[in-house]
Amino acid sequence: MGRHFLLSVSHSSRAAFHLRWRIALVLLVTAFCHQQYLFLVSRQSLAAKYSPTTFDAGHNELQPKFSRPDDDDSDFQDEIIANREAWRILSHGWEGKVFAYKDSVIKTFTPGQSPFRNCAPGIENEKWPTEIAASLRLGGHDNNISNAGLSENSNANKNMNGFLPVRAYFKAAATPSLVPEWHLVTPLLKGGNLNTLAKKTLLETKLKTAKDVDAHFRPAFERLLGNMQHLHEARYCHDDIKPANIFVAEDTRWLLGDLGNLRHTSHPYHSSRIWINNDQLRDCRANDAMRLLKSYLQFVKAAASDKERFDDDFFTGKEPISRLFWKASTDARTISAAQIQKLSMKEYPEQPAMLQENNESTQIRGTFRRLTLHKAVNKSLETRMGEKLARWWGMVGIFGVPNKEVCGF
Ligand SMILES: Nc1ncnc2c1ncn2[C@@H]1O[C@H](COP(=O)(O)OP(=O)(O)OP(=O)(O)O)[C@@H](O)[C@H]1O
Ligand SMILES: [Mg+2]
Repeated sequence: MGRHFLLSVSHSSRAAFHLRWRIALVLLVTAFCHQQYLFLVSRQSLAAKYSPTTFDAGHNELQPKFSRPDDDDSDFQDEIIANREAWRILSHGWEGKVFAYKDSVIKTFTPGQSPFRNCAPGIENEKWPTEIAASLRLGGHDNNISNAGLSENSNANKNMNGFLPVRAYFKAAATPSLVPEWHLVTPLLKGGNLNTLAKKTLLETKLKTAKDVDAHFRPAFERLLGNMQHLHEARYCHDDIKPANIFVAEDTRWLLGDLGNLRHTSHPYHSSRIWINNDQLRDCRANDAMRLLKSYLQFVKAAASDKERFDDDFFTGKEPISRLFWKASTDARTISAAQIQKLSMKEYPEQPAMLQENNESTQIRGTFRRLTLHKAVNKSLETRMGEKLARWWGMVGIFGVPNKEVCGF
């Protein structure tokens, strides 16, 4: 009897043991399949992101120059290289560094950080930063190198309004022992970007309320929308619109800067997993336009001293600026920069605020509710975009970024 009991216990525990192993195995296989799926999808979307931007073939500006071109630019280029010690760092980004030297800005591109997407035309096995090709295509060449900053006609041979012209571009090494890096030289804009302009406006000017700030800067925003419309009509998207990439020539003259992410409208990145997971709109033109509107609202909020009031008004659509945002948001998926421009003219900043019956927002008091509202507004205006997860699942640390294209002539 006792022996029978022992046998039956060991049999049932053996069965439980087998069952546990089977479950563990099934879980392991499922996890492996899921990991493989994420690996493939992530690498696919990274491959899409890092695939080249197509520029009009044969565009005569797009001719790369190595080290020392024997043309008119060489003196200027020599001066830039010879005075490396005098370069003042402006920013240290993921792709490289940005320096100021006299009235020029020099952007360097560190090899290996972010793979170059485009083949340098005319050179075998050489890629160059898409930003150089894009700047040449959109900003043209700056023939007025001696001018201080960006003058009205400094990019006289430009292809499009509102983009920085190129002063020089070349590949050179900081010292003979270092790897040569691509350099892009553009005119220095004294106003920096929209973030620096917001700080300056907040501290230095008499514009105090968000409404004042909006009234002063709205024309600059509308002109920028016009420039963006031209970019989209040429079938390109900027793909990285945010306040730090809107450069300020003068307080009310703004440019679309940092063209490193410029892509043609039908580029595969716009339907990739990274794009969708970052809540970007399928139509990259609508996406650019809405991001520009969000950047402008971020700027107005940052530059205004009545930020709490801005937050209060934001969700109620009481002021013209918030009405503009919510009206544009209704058609966000298909809206164009030109349509936002038209809406902006209707919802001009000088209009009186709308009176709201039962205005709940005025009842929002207390630190916690205020903080919640502040966070909710910032979330609605977010322009962040990342690829960290795709890099993690795509094992970029081990396999690198998928970027197979071989460059020929
Ligand atoms: N021509 C310019 N004139 C004035 N400031 C400039 C100019 N070019 C760049 N900057 C400043 O340097 C900053 C970084 O430049 P940019 O966005 O081109 O580089 P980045 O390395 O791509 O930066 P990030 O990776 O942060 O986007 C800009 O936000 C701007 O403040
Ligand atoms: Mg930038």
